[in-house]
Formats: sequence, structure tokens, C-alpha cells
Amino acid sequence: MSKNYIIYTYGCQMNVHESEKIAGILSSKGYTKCDKSEDADVIVYNTCCVRENAEQHAFGNIGMIKKLKKQKKDLIVAVCGCMTQQGNFAEKLSSMFPYVDIIIGTFNMDKFGEILDKKLNSKKRIVEILDKNRPICESVKPLRSSYPNAWVNIMYGCNNFCSYCIVPYVRGRERSRTLDNVLNEVKSLVESGYKEITLLGQNVNSYGKDLGDGTSFAKLIDEIAKIEGKFRLRFMSNHPKDITEDVVKAIANNQHACKSIHLPVQSGSTRILSLMNRKYTREQYLSEVKMIRSIIPDCALTTDIIVGFPTETEEDFLDTMSLVETVGYDGAFTFVYSPREGTKAAEMEDQIPAEVKKDRIMRLVDLQNERNRVDSLKYVGKTIEVLIEDYDQKKNAYMGRDERGRMAYVEFTKNIVGKFVQVQITSTGGMSLLGKVVKVEEEM
Ligand code: SAH
Ligand code: SF4
Ligand code: F3S
Repeated sequence: MSKNYIIYTYGCQMNVHESEKIAGILSSKGYTKCDKSEDADVIVYNTCCVRENAEQHAFGNIGMIKKLKKQKKDLIVAVCGCMTQQGNFAEKLSSMFPYVDIIIGTFNMDKFGEILDKKLNSKKRIVEILDKNRPICESVKPLRSSYPNAWVNIMYGCNNFCSYCIVPYVRGRERSRTLDNVLNEVKSLVESGYKEITLLGQNVNSYGKDLGDGTSFAKLIDEIAKIEGKFRLRFMSNHPKDITEDVVKAIANNQHACKSIHLPVQSGSTRILSLMNRKYTREQYLSEVKMIRSIIPDCALTTDIIVGFPTETEEDFLDTMSLVETVGYDGAFTFVYSPREGTKAAEMEDQIPAEVKKDRIMRLVDLQNERNRVDSLKYVGKTIEVLIEDYDQKKNAYMGRDERGRMAYVEFTKNIVGKFVQVQITSTGGMSLLGKVVKVEEEM
């Protein structure tokens, strides 16, 4: 009888892709993906610790598996990902959850197969956290589950140490994959039919700097431009401190690259930005936005914003609100500041009370939602190109996005997932768009 696995993923796209790598390992060992913990022989929790709620979510779910583990003695429970890579967390997890069989970090995913074999042959729990700075492993073939999009790591780690952020502590220093390795992966994904490639890195602008051979992010974009076939190129994230004209020009000149940039601002107050160690001021950020729009006039911009950073005053917060209005983002991921043990900001005095943070995030979300709603209305009557990503059972419609990342729903009689379609927008549903298919791309 075939054995089953299920992977629960928390956190960012990086983790989503790492789960695809674990899935690749498990499927090469003959395991099949299942949809319920009850049917699984191996359960993997791929955790995140960027904010307290991500961590608590994982803790809660690992706690709930205790009962199943009691009933099903052979079930293997593994915990991996960023949470395990912090300070003494592996020990803490071990004592909190004695029924967890395997605890591994973020950077030994390639060893997951070996560790699983070892566990299957022994009764003992395995805790193995390797050096977070260990060299990149190229040997794992992911089992992708996000068609028509494919995630491609271009680099691992982060050197920036923003004062609120745990990522550099759990993911180590910046390490770039070679240009050839990235290009070969992108080429083969496009050849095998993927229609959207998303390049992943904590700060994609620093791609290649550590290789010392002249490789840069702009060069990578230029090289990807030479790949034939119709596909979209996206990337995240760009750190505003080093997005250059070279990079923006490379995006402008690349027929695959979506004219859309994720440029996390975090705060609109120069004082807070300095405490956050972001290395740019409000004015510098705004002049970058100007530079981007002078090269790509209709470039969509999205962002990440934190409210309630220690010492944030109402005035600082209003600076964030006014920046959001000035830039006019196409989308914003908004977060309540959450102290992370070991980071500089967690030690700062004047942490902001929960109710103040809550009030600020609600005002910010309202502002951005209103802008998205008004923006959506401008689409009505227009025809846009949408890449269909999925079928939404609840809405009985296909879902896709335009180049700017705006979601659109259409009804259609045939399966059009993975197709570029021309959609005429007829109405809006809050932030998303509703329309009808005018044309489906020809088979290529
Ligand atoms: N490397 C990316 C971000 C990775 S983390 C970048 O620099 O853009 C994703 C987002 O989580 C960050 O942009 C930030 O907005 C948010 N974040 C990180 N640490 C946080 C914390 N301690 N509290 C609240 N939000 C946080
Ligand atoms: Fe965290 Fe800053 Fe690195 Fe992004 S750039 S991962 S926010 S330290
Ligand atoms: Fe990503 Fe969370 Fe780790 S955001 S890098 S999975 S801490």
C-alpha cells in the first residue's frame, strides 16, 4: 500500500517553495500527497517565525496532532523551517512536543530523505539543525504545486538586519545561486509549460554580489529576456535601499517582466525608518518611486508596511498614511509590529500598546482598501490580459491576474488554467474584477 504525506506550510513564498522541495523528496521515495492528517504516514510542519502569530499558528497545529500520533504509532511527525533555526528553539520544541519525531532546520531540506530513513530505522527522535550559512544545495528536484507559476530561488539569506526582523538570524547571510543554475532552471520551466516565473530572494537587488564575478540582478533580468516563449517574470522582494536605474531599465526592456515592483517601504516616517535600520529616508524612497515611474510610467507598485514599531507616534503613523496616499500603491501587505526575541527592536523601550496598534492598522487597511476599490472601478469596460491560475469552486469561476497583479474572475466552459486570456471587465467585486473572456490564447 502506498504511503501518504501532508505538508503544512507557514510563512513566505520561500517556505512555500521549500515545501515543494520536501514534497519532491517524499515523492521520490514513493510517498503520495494526501489532503487530511488522518490519512498521512508522514506529517511535516514547515514553520515561520517572522511574526508571533505565524509562530503561534504552527505551535497550535503541532499541539493538535498529539491525539492522532497516540492512535497511529507509526505516524512520523517532522518540524522544520525558520522556527527551528532560532536560538534554543529546537530544544524548546523537543520538550514541548515529545511526540515530534524529527526536528530539522531550514537548510537541510536536502537531507530530509536521509533523516527520514534514519528515523524509520530507529525509535529515537532526530534533531538535526545544520549551519544556517551552509552552501546552497542544487540537487533537490521540487514537486511543484503552483502551476502556472513556478518559484525560483535566486539567493538565500539576508545581510540587512532590519532591527525588527528575525530572518537574518534564521536564514544566515546572503548566498546567490550561480547565473547558469538560475537560467537553466528558468529555461527548463518555460520549456515544460510554466507561464509565470517568480524569482525569490530576501533582497533580489543584491543578487550576485557575493559571487564576485560581475553577476548582478540587472544582468540576470537581461539574460532572462533572451529566453523565448510567452511567460511572465516576477520577483520579490526589492529592498528600496538599492534598487538602481539599471535594474528598472532592465525590467522596462524585458518583454517577459511584469511592469510591477514590490517595494516594501515599512514606514513613511524617516525617524522610524532610521530606527528600523532600513538605510533610506522617506524622501529617498519617494524619489525612487519617481525614478521608477519616469522609466516605466505605468509601473504597478506594491509594498509591505509595519505599524506600531516601538516609539511610533501618531505623527509618525500619519507620515505612513500620507506616503501611502502619495505613492498610490496597487496593493499593500500590512502588519502589526511583533517583537522577535534577539532582534534590536525587541529590546527597545516604548513598545506600542496593542490597542493603539490595532487602531492604526485598521485605519491603514481602510485607506488602502478604499484606494483598491476606486482603482478597480477604472478597469470597468477595459480589456486586459489575464493569466488564469485556478478554478474557484465557491465562485464557480476561473481566477487569474493581470500584469499588475489585479485579480479577475471569469466564467468559462473549458479548463483554461495556465492560459493567457483577454478579459473584458464588466464589473467589480470590491477589490477584484469580474469579466468575460473575449479571447483565449492559441495553443503555442
Ligand atoms: N525581505 C523582505 C521581507 C521579508 S519578511 C523585505 O525586506 O522586503 C516580510 C515582511 O514581514 C516584511 O517586509 C515586514 O513588513 C514584515 N515583518 C518582518 N518582521 C516583522 C515583525 N517583527 N513584526 C511585524 N512585521 C514584520
Ligand atoms: Fe528582514 Fe530586512 Fe532582510 Fe527583509 S531585508 S528579510 S525585512 S532583515
Ligand atoms: Fe519566510 Fe517566515 Fe522564514 S517569512 S524566511 S518563513 S521566518
